Amino acid sequence: MHASLIVSVQSNSSVAKYRQIAEQIAGQISDGTLLPGDRLPPIRILSEQLSVNSATIVKAYESLQKQSLVTKIPGSGVYVGSDPAQRPDERKVRSEFDDDELYLDDEIDLMQKGTIVIGDDAINFATSTPTSDMFPVAPFKEAIDTVLDRDGGRAFEYDESNGYLPLRESICTMLNEVYAVRSTPERLQIISGAQQGIDIAAKALLDPGDCVLVEDPTYTGALAVFKSRGARIVSVPMEQDGIDLVHLEKSLQYYCPKVLYLMPDYQNPTTCSYSEEKRSAVIAAARRHACYIIEDDFLSDLSFNASSYRPLKSYDDPADERVIHIKSFSKLLMPGLRIGFLTAPRSLSRDILQAKHLTDISSAGLIQRAFDLYLRSGVWETHLSQMCRRYHGRQQQLFRSLEEHLQQIDLPPRPTGGFNLWLPLPQGISASALYRDAAAKGVLCTPGNVFRAGRRDFDDHIRLSIAAADEQQIERGIVLLSQVIGDHLKQRTRSDFLSPML
Ligand SMILES: Cc1ncc(COP(=O)(O)O)c(C=O)c1O
Repeated sequence: MHASLIVSVQSNSSVAKYRQIAEQIAGQISDGTLLPGDRLPPIRILSEQLSVNSATIVKAYESLQKQSLVTKIPGSGVYVGSDPAQRPDERKVRSEFDDDELYLDDEIDLMQKGTIVIGDDAINFATSTPTSDMFPVAPFKEAIDTVLDRDGGRAFEYDESNGYLPLRESICTMLNEVYAVRSTPERLQIISGAQQGIDIAAKALLDPGDCVLVEDPTYTGALAVFKSRGARIVSVPMEQDGIDLVHLEKSLQYYCPKVLYLMPDYQNPTTCSYSEEKRSAVIAAARRHACYIIEDDFLSDLSFNASSYRPLKSYDDPADERVIHIKSFSKLLMPGLRIGFLTAPRSLSRDILQAKHLTDISSAGLIQRAFDLYLRSGVWETHLSQMCRRYHGRQQQLFRSLEEHLQQIDLPPRPTGGFNLWLPLPQGISASALYRDAAAKGVLCTPGNVFRAGRRDFDDHIRLSIAAADEQQIERGIVLLSQVIGDHLKQRTRSDFLSPML
């Protein structure tokens, strides 16, 4: 069977027909519609379908071959990928990008090295960390004082590697009552933040060469972990209601991954949440293909309506568990606490515990004890509802400002929670160029390429985070951003006008 292709040819275009065809096929390879190993239609069939000369198709396929996007196997056909002769289970699955591509994009380098100088009054839509004025310092101080009076030096001993037992008990109660996740203190693992959770799950599960499927775009901190384990990373496109299931199924069949890394709620960076159907479907797919899901639940509590979804973990079948649920308190409490927890399938508990022990022996005892008291005092629920109200207000301001000042942009649907917005840019505007010019005006945003997981570079999107920007800053920041976008649109129009003469 050859892959079905949707390709068209415009006779009145100035672009040669073979190039039109090659570019459309390359686009479908890049966005994952065509996967490695897919056979392209035979030359005669495609030439008849498009009413073009067969030499045009030959030239199109040759051009794709020169770009190493397809391989011709004499007597068999033309296949997507550079090594299609091997069977999927024998194939060395290649990472979709080279090592350097992930982090050394100029613009990320600029951000990390701070080469772009930003004034103190800069508006920061790039960070996804709340500002310290939002931290509940007073109740936490009280909890720490109580722990020190109660436990003295014991608070500074090594705790058990899986965590301070009373904290595991209180988290278990919360998991059962609030998230419909059945667990027991024995099965919970306290972690020093979600990043560590991803790291120890990867240590427990992955050997060099194993394949990990990730959403595209995705959180780069997770990509870095998988790459550090020598994993091969393959991306699956995101849709508005979660991962693309058709593409996921093809990739599961083809790559036989060990791990699927997902953020089902307010995904970073798209802020899309999985529908109920997709939640059940990904679990079923993981069971069919015997792979594990790392569920990064970094933000599900930040919901603006009562009908938020349950974590994937609550859909897991106790007889065939597939989900490693990782929950962090960084974004809604205080990132510097470095606290979170992980619930793994029973069969993985031992390996997870070993990985945690190897990583840092145990999370800080004083913090675990204070956090336990904090959770038991009921202050957490009050703090959480304050944070939800505050961020909802900011999101409403963000949309008001965008609707007023950025009418050139088709706004995405309003997320029902979270603090990011994945904003598509007008056609022809580059996110990295916009990032630089906006930063020079004192507004920071994150260019889409930072979240790239595969071939698609996302230079047509920016991520705006309102985690650290209040209502006034949001309004001022969007006004400035709209001026920069306006300048880029003028430049684009000028170059569109000039290009035919060049
Ligand atoms: C999606 C996602 N997962 C995990 C983390 C890491 O969180 P933590 O501070 O809990 O380690 C982040 C941090 O930005 C994140 O965006």
